[in-house]
Amino acid sequence: MMQVFYKKNELTAFIEKIKSQHKIIGFVPTMGALHVGHLSLIEYSQKSCDITIASIFVNPTQFNDQNDLKNYPRNLAQDFEKLAQLNCDVVFAPSVEEMYPEKDIRVFTFDGIDSLMEGAHRPGHFNGVAQIVSKLFELVQPDKAFFGQKDFQQVAIIKKMVEKMKLPIEIIACPIIRESDGLAMSSRNVLLLPQHRALAPLIHKTLLLAVEKAQTLPLEKLKTWVVEQINSSEYLKVEYFDIVDENRLTSLKSLQHGKKQVGCIAVWAGNVRLIDNIVFNL
Ligand code: PAF
Repeated sequence: MMQVFYKKNELTAFIEKIKSQHKIIGFVPTMGALHVGHLSLIEYSQKSCDITIASIFVNPTQFNDQNDLKNYPRNLAQDFEKLAQLNCDVVFAPSVEEMYPEKDIRVFTFDGIDSLMEGAHRPGHFNGVAQIVSKLFELVQPDKAFFGQKDFQQVAIIKKMVEKMKLPIEIIACPIIRESDGLAMSSRNVLLLPQHRALAPLIHKTLLLAVEKAQTLPLEKLKTWVVEQINSSEYLKVEYFDIVDENRLTSLKSLQHGKKQVGCIAVWAGNVRLIDNIVFNL
């Protein structure tokens, strides 16, 4: 039977018991409104861990836009059902007061990997992510934590945080799960109006074509092509598209053979902001 905890002390008591049994703990932090992408993370954890713990918490400190926080989809009852069906062992679903009894004033540094893309367009976002993930890691003390590769930069940020805090946690990035038309799964997809949802698959389609075009087109031209292609559709507006080094996340001047380079994009579809990425492996 899946156990649900709302309080930190309940979770801590459970973790103490599990640790005394030397079991491997897998952790999947989420903000709820669970989709198949989240559920795949639970399955990855179950494959390599003895106990799988999910958390559901819409973290206010990572929202740079208060409307986004207000509109973020919440569906706790359905989330519990989905996790129970998968035999997830534990769900931690705390309140905001439980996680932030007082204001978190910690400031994290990420050696520059937060300075572009999401970091540049969502000021304070990654600091908020690090605040909550570090609190959750301290409580759950996982051996492994699982994150979706859709949030490519977030994974790099969390790896950096773990390295700097010297936490003995393995961060595992799992593949992007897509709808059948190619749209990357996201909790925000349910917020898309039908006319925006219909056009949104163009993002992934364009990135796939860009990978082909990268064989012949110089990088700057390729970037311009991607932006123009997506912006030419009625309801989509690219916020940024960049191709970065997989590890340092620096913007590249040219693509290189034998190197993993990642094209990252953020697109507004009406009022909903979508992100996606693709590997350029020439
Ligand atoms: O990726 C998310 O859903 C969130 O950023 C996370 C990692 C659960 C932290 O709130």
